[in-house]
Amino acid sequence: MSKKILITGGAGFIGSHLVRLFVNKYPDYKIVNLDKLTYAGNLENLKDIESTANYSFVKGDIVDAQFINKLFSEHQFDGIIHLAAESHVDRSILNPLAFVETNVIGTLNLLNAAKEQWKGEENDKLFYHISTDEVYGSLGEEGFFTETTSYDPRSPYSASKASSDHFVRAYHHTYGIPVVVSNCSNNYGPNQFPEKLIPLCIHNIKSGKALPIYGDGKYTRDWLWVMDHAAAIDLIFHKGKIGETYNIGGHNEWKNIDLVHLLCDLTDKALNRPQGTARQLITFVKDRPGHDKRYAIDANKIKHELGFEPSITFETGLAQTIDWYLNNETWLGNITSGAYKAYYEQQYKNR
Ligand code: NAD
Ligand code: TYD
Repeated sequence: MSKKILITGGAGFIGSHLVRLFVNKYPDYKIVNLDKLTYAGNLENLKDIESTANYSFVKGDIVDAQFINKLFSEHQFDGIIHLAAESHVDRSILNPLAFVETNVIGTLNLLNAAKEQWKGEENDKLFYHISTDEVYGSLGEEGFFTETTSYDPRSPYSASKASSDHFVRAYHHTYGIPVVVSNCSNNYGPNQFPEKLIPLCIHNIKSGKALPIYGDGKYTRDWLWVMDHAAAIDLIFHKGKIGETYNIGGHNEWKNIDLVHLLCDLTDKALNRPQGTARQLITFVKDRPGHDKRYAIDANKIKHELGFEPSITFETGLAQTIDWYLNNETWLGNITSGAYKAYYEQQYKNR
């Protein structure tokens, strides 16, 4: 069956893996990648598929309602997979408004355009909103986030994502838009912008810079291989139930300090440096304000209803991630100059 699918944020970290999966796996689909190409969007991520017949790229801003309405008048989309977002918690603390604009207003613009376009033809259409486990807030030592856990966002980033999730569900109930939402845990893998913990540490180990660990380093995250997230999105897009929410996770909790120790040891090995070299770079710095203690996903629903399970172990995925960053110096070099340096200095100057 031929379908035209709009993927927003397809030049970013998760979006680029998803676009590649869909373009290669579904040659009969037409995939339109809409991305503003902010600091986090990079068409180099998609070089291998850019001239594939079923793929096209549109540069544009989801905050611009006029532009979005025009795009929808030019294309009849059967499905939308919405990933475009401002995605970094630390940046949301520096500039919350940018997160409201893109994550909330941008999502509303897409919902409004879909509502107009699909009027009376909602069958076989789908608005799939990609969200995060951070909307559920912070866990103590015990327990997991389920699909019915109450929302309790605590950072400007998670508050903006929570707001967009609410609007997506409201449009389903109020206007009958066919929607599905998934909330995923922390992703890792190739092509992640080096402001996030894992690529930031690999980059700093390589260049002999300090590894900034916020607070006591005992904060816990549940890590999932990015291509497993893309595989889960594929499953939910094709087999998920309209109106439902699916949590996606890796059953893979790590305290930040333990993760960074493992990362140091694997990177020393990959660089043929004596074990213990990278660990000397670990530096405890001032904590992130409002830092969520622990995230952990109960992924039983997607496992039992759709058969999803992570495909690789963390050690394997982490080793592959390190190899990718060490072998893609040009990619890293291109994005760690200019604006990245300015952000890095502002973010870490008083820590
Ligand atoms: P990312 O920051 O790497 O990529 C975001 C992409 O969106 C970039 O290509 C950027 O250019 C684009 N974009 C930003 N503002 C835009 C705008 N106004 N108009 C059009 N495009 C715009 O983010 P990511 O890590 O790939 O996350 C993608 C989605 O997945 C986000 O919605 C995020 O909330 C969600 N998510 C991320 C994680 C994670 O661990 N990274 C976990 C769960 C959910
Ligand atoms: P991050 O990769 O920013 O993802 P998120 O905040 O969305 O979970 O951070 C992961 C964890 O690592 C989080 O607990 C904050 C911590 N962290 C540091 O300790 N130092 C850093 O320099 C960064 C960027 C994150």
